[in-house]
Amino acid sequence: MLIDSFDRIHNYLRISLTDNCNLRCFYCMPEEDYEFTPHSRLMQPDEIESLAKIFVQNGVNKIRLTGGEPLVRKDAADIILRLSKLPVSLTLTTNATRLHDFADVLQEAKVKSLNISLDTLDADKFQIITRRDGFQKVMDNIHLMINKNFHVKVNVVVMKGMNDHEINDFVAWTKDLPVHVRFIEFMPFDGNRWTSNQVFTMEEMLGVIGQKYTPTPLQNDLHDTAKKFAIDGHKGTFAIISTMSSPFCSGCNRMRLTADGKMKNCLFSQKETDLLSALRKGEDVLPLIQESIASKAKELGGQFTKDFEKIHTEDLHNRSMISIGG
Ligand code: GTP
Ligand code: 5AD
Ligand code: SF4
Repeated sequence: MLIDSFDRIHNYLRISLTDNCNLRCFYCMPEEDYEFTPHSRLMQPDEIESLAKIFVQNGVNKIRLTGGEPLVRKDAADIILRLSKLPVSLTLTTNATRLHDFADVLQEAKVKSLNISLDTLDADKFQIITRRDGFQKVMDNIHLMINKNFHVKVNVVVMKGMNDHEINDFVAWTKDLPVHVRFIEFMPFDGNRWTSNQVFTMEEMLGVIGQKYTPTPLQNDLHDTAKKFAIDGHKGTFAIISTMSSPFCSGCNRMRLTADGKMKNCLFSQKETDLLSALRKGEDVLPLIQESIASKAKELGGQFTKDFEKIHTEDLHNRSMISIGG
């Protein structure tokens, strides 16, 4: 078992397959030229499998593949099928642009649930946020995967002045479609030009939704990132991920592996532990993992507090979201 000094048991591993992506969302990656990690420095399928097995032998029972966009990797299907042989619940966070090519593989791998990033229901706004086209493909693939009986959650990063006016459109979307929308407070990462006045808080979101709907809170799991709500007569639900105004670190069970094989014990940890180099040298990886967990900070990587107005982004030491994987 991987237990930290605050008695948190770590059974959920997020593996980033690549920091490459076919979209360019401004809240996720720097506007200026960003150099994607070359293929030789990425974990290879057998290396991902070997590292995942070590985590599984030590209590991990849930693996989420992330990116960048995990499905732009040419060997994504191979990796998915290898990991599906492990005794874990395997899931994926994706921008959905390529899901139509992966529906069969995901079914073969017994993936049941997909988290899809979509921040707007407006095609022009999609172009502004992602700096690419693709809105219709994403919408088509959301419907395709729901029709194939996947449990689909849609992640919406809410940014004041950008898409906060669409919150109730997203809630209305859950009326006839069994889709689970999660509104996410905008978080600061390297190069994403975050400012505290762009954060639309959980309280503000509930205020907007309360003007039109009467949501009922649902039971949450200790490890959930999201606080969930239902609305009478709606096939889907909505939830709020309140990292900035109400962090949920006390129930944290998550560890991360970046695409270049570095372990991060927290989304906001500055410290990284190079598991891939150790594996390539034939060294014992488990003590490195244990040491990383033992040094995990109590909250938010020890980098800031929920008084987010006080954050100076230049003082934060972290990667861009695109190279962490969320
Ligand atoms: P579930 O397995 O469905 O609970 O997914 P998830 O919420 O863990 O993952 P997803 O990749 O869909 O991420 C949704 C949002 O939650 C993103 O903005 C992530 O950055 C954020 N998130 C995921 N894990 C953590 C975490 O450990 N801490 C914090 N603060 N945010 C997280
Ligand atoms: N703040 C909050 N969430 C973010 N994501 C990416 N960048 C940010 C940010 N700055 C979300 C994406 C994706 C998930 C993995 O992380 O929307 O769904
Ligand atoms: Fe866990 Fe860090 Fe996220 Fe808090 S901020 S929930 S400690 S990963």
